[in-house]
Amino acid sequence: MPRILSGIKPTGRLHIGNYFGMMRPAIGWQEKGDALYFIADYHALTTVTDPAKLRADSLSLAIDFLACGLDPAKATFFRQSDVPEVTELTWLLSVLTPMALLERCHAYKDALARGLPASHGLFAYPVLMASDILIYDSDIVPVGRDQKQHVEVTRDIAIKLNELYGADLLKLPEPSILPDLATIPGLDGQKMSKSYGNTIELFLEEKTLKKKIMGIVTDSTPVESPKNPEQSSILGLYRLFATPEDTARMEAEFRAGGVGYGDFKKRLFGAVWEHFAPARARRAEIERDPAIVGEVLRRGAERARSLAGETLSRVRRAMGLGR
Ligand code: TRP
Repeated sequence: MPRILSGIKPTGRLHIGNYFGMMRPAIGWQEKGDALYFIADYHALTTVTDPAKLRADSLSLAIDFLACGLDPAKATFFRQSDVPEVTELTWLLSVLTPMALLERCHAYKDALARGLPASHGLFAYPVLMASDILIYDSDIVPVGRDQKQHVEVTRDIAIKLNELYGADLLKLPEPSILPDLATIPGLDGQKMSKSYGNTIELFLEEKTLKKKIMGIVTDSTPVESPKNPEQSSILGLYRLFATPEDTARMEAEFRAGGVGYGDFKKRLFGAVWEHFAPARARRAEIERDPAIVGEVLRRGAERARSLAGETLSRVRRAMGLGR
């Protein structure tokens, strides 16, 4: 059974782009192997400096995943910082990681290009990520396209350690690239992204969700006239939630004219609201008994720590530490 591992940074509430791009595929993997998912709170510290926010975002991320179908009986779900072994392995990998390899990594390069001060943590971010992946002997790492480079760095570091200290010490992981978020339009027609401020979060109040959807930017084609379905974010989003038949019907109505954008938006709202109804009910249940989340994460961390501990002592021994 392949071991599948991925981490998600707790930085703000999850939106529809995250849901289709990352959450749903990740939850799907729990049927295909030994899946481990963690809340990447150590990584989040490179950008989040408000402890209350980090704690709140970590908790809501955990609740969202459980509400959307992550099954703790099938997958191991934990907080990255509950497995401190990963930071020790980070050091052991760091001494083998060429500066030049990290200087090529995009998060650090972007910070430099924008003239922002980069911390050592941001520079070393890919080494911590390599440690996350290698410490669990992961086979497959589902990530967005932007993280592929980090999995390649992980392989480079593992190859180097294996060459120096023993061929079978670390398993080489393969990335599995998640669907491209560019296909999920935001409120303004650009791809849905927190940095564009055009997101629709997963568990909004009914009124707030309706208001957001009614605020989707459209052109000013009058009700009677045919509308262009190609570039429409209403239709682009509707497609994700509706049946192929309902999608085809909306598309035909766009082309025919006679239905206004307001009506299409109401239909979209209905589809989104209904899609998340079961998850919303589960979320409410979990919120009534938050101890569930603590227990899931505690058990997850226990298993993760035992796997991590084995890899760490194997590598420590190989490198000449301990007795
Ligand atoms: N860097 C990843 C992101 O920003 C999160 C992450 C941290 C991760 N460690 C990981 C993803 C290990 C996959 C495997 O999305």
